Amino acid sequence: MGDIAKIILNGNEYEFPVLTGTEQEKAIDMRTLRLKTGYIAFDPGYANVGSCQSAITFIDGDKGILRYRGIPIEQLAEHASFVEVAYLLIYGELPNEKELNKWSAEFTEHSMIHEDMKNFFDGYPAGGHPMGILSAMVCSLSAYYPELERVELTSMDFRRISVELISKVRTIAAFSYKKKIGEPFVYPRSDLKYIPNFLNMMFSSPNRVYEVQDCVANALRTLFVLHADHEQNCGTSSVRMVGSSLANLYASVSAGICALWGPLHGGANQRVTEMLQSIQQSGGDVAHFITQVKDRKNNTKLMGFGHRVYKNYDPRAKIIKQRTDVLLNKLGIHDPLLEIALKLEEAALKDSFFVERKLYPNVDFYSGIIYRAIGIPVDMAPVMFAMARMAGWIAHWKEMRDEADLRISRPRQVYVGHQQRDFIPMEKRG
Ligand code: COA
Repeated sequence: MGDIAKIILNGNEYEFPVLTGTEQEKAIDMRTLRLKTGYIAFDPGYANVGSCQSAITFIDGDKGILRYRGIPIEQLAEHASFVEVAYLLIYGELPNEKELNKWSAEFTEHSMIHEDMKNFFDGYPAGGHPMGILSAMVCSLSAYYPELERVELTSMDFRRISVELISKVRTIAAFSYKKKIGEPFVYPRSDLKYIPNFLNMMFSSPNRVYEVQDCVANALRTLFVLHADHEQNCGTSSVRMVGSSLANLYASVSAGICALWGPLHGGANQRVTEMLQSIQQSGGDVAHFITQVKDRKNNTKLMGFGHRVYKNYDPRAKIIKQRTDVLLNKLGIHDPLLEIALKLEEAALKDSFFVERKLYPNVDFYSGIIYRAIGIPVDMAPVMFAMARMAGWIAHWKEMRDEADLRISRPRQVYVGHQQRDFIPMEKRG
């Protein structure tokens, strides 16, 4: 018999089973809590709540460990392509050569968006945030796939709509950029791989051939692999929450994009660059900025620092920091923002405010500097995150929908408003 947790309420004892994960993570199974006791578990922000059992990604935040399907992120960042990682996350195993070639060819085949969708871009103002456009466009894509409305998708249908989503999202992202800068759309090419194809759509134009440099494609590949999944964060939980109502994959992912947009989540990469720019513009005084962060009155945060799960150096940040250095050296770029970021990190890591709170650089601290070096505009940094996260979102949506005992996500609350009172006619209101 497994471990049992006991709760004593008003003298009555209730037992709950303990679940143990494959990495010995422990959870008290509270599914019958309300039924047995009439009480609910109260945990705003869900810091102590396991919303599901998942076999996709493992994080040990104290040790700084991240693995996709058991494989350490460091190995994937070194060796795997993004489409390979997408396959691993969605199907649970690395593809063999034949499977990978077929999978890659499907991405190429499905990279175009419907011509009518080009008109959608005309409806947005030039300054519209690309995350809003991306979310709306992904949801709009569902209009072109009536099969999405079927609750039970065949495995072939699921595979095709997944590939179409991952593939088309980069076309949508690149088209929204072209629209913003007033250049004609550049169509996807069948001779280019996933990342070079995206770079070509972004930076080629009728009068400019963009040569994709290996170091640039490789830096972006690394970032995409590192961002592909991160278990039950705000964005992924949103995808699962929406999908639990049996909403279609594209609608669910569209919600994930909106959640990711927030500055406390994937929007932080944009805010880090803006923070570094602002420090630079005001003279580069890092010590002064750190003092501002520690003075809680003005609510200044060191963006790109801190994490709900990592209480150690985020393993993704470690890799990105190193790759930033490599890319900037290869491109011969000296970015003053990198210097400011390095100084901020050094100051924070020896300051008791950050040490006591276990605040370390997260995935968003250095990634913006790579995007800048590549020429990706600041407000598109969260879009890059979203494009990569498609793989994880699809994997989680599938895992959830395959659950035998899937239940709609529906948290409870502790009501603290008025007790019953009567309606007051207008003439009697003060
Ligand atoms: N700068 C300054 N202080 C920070 C901080 C930051 N980036 N992140 C956390 N803290 C402080 C909090 O104010 C809090 O201090 P207190 O205990 O004195 O009140 C303490 O550290 C714990 O943080 P908390 O907000 O409870 O952690 P959380 O798990 O709820 O939030 C984040 C995690 C990621 C939202 C938070 O660290 C943050 O806002 N970071 C900056 C945004 C960011 O980079 N997001 C991307 C995450 S990948």
